[in-house]
Amino acid sequence: MDADERLRLAVDRVSAALRETVEELQVTENELRAALGFLGEVGQAGQFPLLADVLGVSVAVDEVTYDARQPGTASSVEGPFYRPGAPVRTQICRDDEPGDVCFVSGRVTDATTGAPLPGALLDVWQAGAGGKYEHEDPEQPDYNLRGRLYSDDGGTYELRTVVPPPYEIPQGPVNRLLARIGRNRFRPAHFHVKLSCEGYEPRTTQLFLEGGAHLDDDTIGAVKPELTGRLEKHDDPEQLSRGGLDRPFFTYVYDFALVPAAPREGAGDGS
Ligand code: BEZ
Ligand code: FE
Repeated sequence: MDADERLRLAVDRVSAALRETVEELQVTENELRAALGFLGEVGQAGQFPLLADVLGVSVAVDEVTYDARQPGTASSVEGPFYRPGAPVRTQICRDDEPGDVCFVSGRVTDATTGAPLPGALLDVWQAGAGGKYEHEDPEQPDYNLRGRLYSDDGGTYELRTVVPPPYEIPQGPVNRLLARIGRNRFRPAHFHVKLSCEGYEPRTTQLFLEGGAHLDDDTIGAVKPELTGRLEKHDDPEQLSRGGLDRPFFTYVYDFALVPAAPREGAGDGS
């Protein structure tokens, strides 16, 4: 089926669902006007991607795009707040970043053989302890809580950050809509990671914190149990002084596995 045919089918399906809703709920002219006004506000606020997220469309597209039966780390949506070009570094926040210090570490391996993958790039981003991403918060420096780092010869990585908090979606028409219908506006605390490694399929995902708030009612429905890891608290004074820290810290361990890239069509060995 070509692109225009798919588009015609999609328009037909969406129109039918909208007409069915109008008939079932006996939607009035005033309600239609209000709905169109809302969509205008969403456009003005640049929140159509956010609307797709809270309607569950982004997660549904992720599910049809990435086969959950494939081996390797599960995917999750990128979300609207990725910024390319983050600094290459293993500490992605300020020394005195508000919040609890957290060391995130683990291994990157080949999902089919289990072999460690050196040189895998992890592009990481998250919200600060105040519940905002750096670009939404004038108190945070440019690219704060964003960073890129590489796995070492043994495929291991470690970065220093802070424990992320649950995240309320930005203010605006989409947030107001959810509030009005009594729906949760928060996402559970999470780290975003974009992984890439030569010869492997890239993977974009999110990591969640076991036992955290909103794991069961993520406003975009992106939580997967296999993307959930445990935070461990460390408050032994000897361990603290060894790490040069004056307060308890947390660790979070998560291992990633990447799937070898499918050979490109037409890319023969030239013989
Ligand atoms: C986030 O990952 O932070 C996010 C994703 C979708 C909508 C809003 C926020
Ligand atoms: Fe996020």
